Amino acid sequence: MRLLITGGAGFIGSNFVHYWLTNHPTDEVVVFDKLTYAGHLESLGDIKNNPHYSFIQGDIGSVEDVDKATEGIDLIVHFAAESHVDRSVIDPLLFVKTNVLGTANLLNVTKEKKISRFHHVSTDEVYGELRPEDPPFTEKSPFSPRSPYAASKAGSDHLVQAFFETYGLPVTISNCANNFGPYHDPEKLIPRFITNLLEGKKVPLMGQGAQSRSWLYVKDHSLAIDLIIQKGQLGETYCIGGEEKTNLETTKQILELMGLGIEMIEYVPERLGHDFRYALDSGKIASLGWRAEHDFSEWLKITIDWFKANEWWWKPLKEGRPIVDRVAQAKF
Ligand SMILES: NC(=O)c1ccc[n+]([C@@H]2O[C@H](COP(=O)([O-])OP(=O)(O)OC[C@H]3O[C@@H](n4cnc5c(N)ncnc54)[C@H](O)[C@@H]3O)[C@@H](O)[C@H]2O)c1
Repeated sequence: MRLLITGGAGFIGSNFVHYWLTNHPTDEVVVFDKLTYAGHLESLGDIKNNPHYSFIQGDIGSVEDVDKATEGIDLIVHFAAESHVDRSVIDPLLFVKTNVLGTANLLNVTKEKKISRFHHVSTDEVYGELRPEDPPFTEKSPFSPRSPYAASKAGSDHLVQAFFETYGLPVTISNCANNFGPYHDPEKLIPRFITNLLEGKKVPLMGQGAQSRSWLYVKDHSLAIDLIIQKGQLGETYCIGGEEKTNLETTKQILELMGLGIEMIEYVPERLGHDFRYALDSGKIASLGWRAEHDFSEWLKITIDWFKANEWWWKPLKEGRPIVDRVAQAKF
């Protein structure tokens, strides 16, 4: 089988490429990525000589680029997106262009070329936020996005579903919790905190850290997508949840695993429209046979060890970059 992985140079995409080549070594994997600030060929450096891997630089919004990249493709796994909520506060139109129009373009080419399968990767943020007493979201929860990022992903999910209903396009969708693991951009909470501490800096915790997130290790996410590709029902959505923690709990766990104390926390103002809580019910994906391989604290330790061992990867990414949540707060 020949797969096209859009956004394969990003965080989750690059982990998925490693996962797929390890677990399906006879398949051919083509990575298609624009290499924005979030795409790093270094994340795929160790497989660059693998004859089953190739890379095409291009834009999911370009008919010509997508047409070329989909030559001979059997399956598209669509990760490419603008993915950072704070950046969507600064530039919402870019998010609509990439996530909504880009996905529509990919779907259209998939339809024209009669590609056998399209799997769309999306987020729990399309469902909005939960209060402490609410049950977790399920696949049946109504969409209620609260940031330009979440709204653009909701738009892309609707388009994927509409191409299934209208044209019978062979699609599946997954909406997942916050991921963490290797090759995670140091702009995001867990890698930013780990790398700050490795550099002897404090960790900026928004508000009092009361917000709650459910955390999914990126390999467990790849396992879930693989299961959906093998066993999922066309036209169906699958929620992939993780372990729920408040941001303060996550921060304390990182500090403890790194042998540091709470004096390393610096409390900073809330982000605009900061969702209070996300949680997902993983019952449907569990019925396909999915479960996380390890618990949060075990995966967190593995993640910290990866960042300790791979300074060459994350250090250049932190240099000279503005801290985008501060930029967003200062601007609005
Ligand atoms: N990171 C998470 O915790 C999380 C949680 C839920 C869902 N998701 C979804 O998973 C997917 C991957 O997320 P991620 O964290 O790996 O994102 P990321 O920002 O790390 O990577 C996105 C990749 O897409 C590429 N890209 C951006 N615009 C493009 C374009 N126009 N054409 C081609 N490539 C383009 C970038 O270069 C980058 O390599 C996204 O669709 C995101 O919405 C992520």
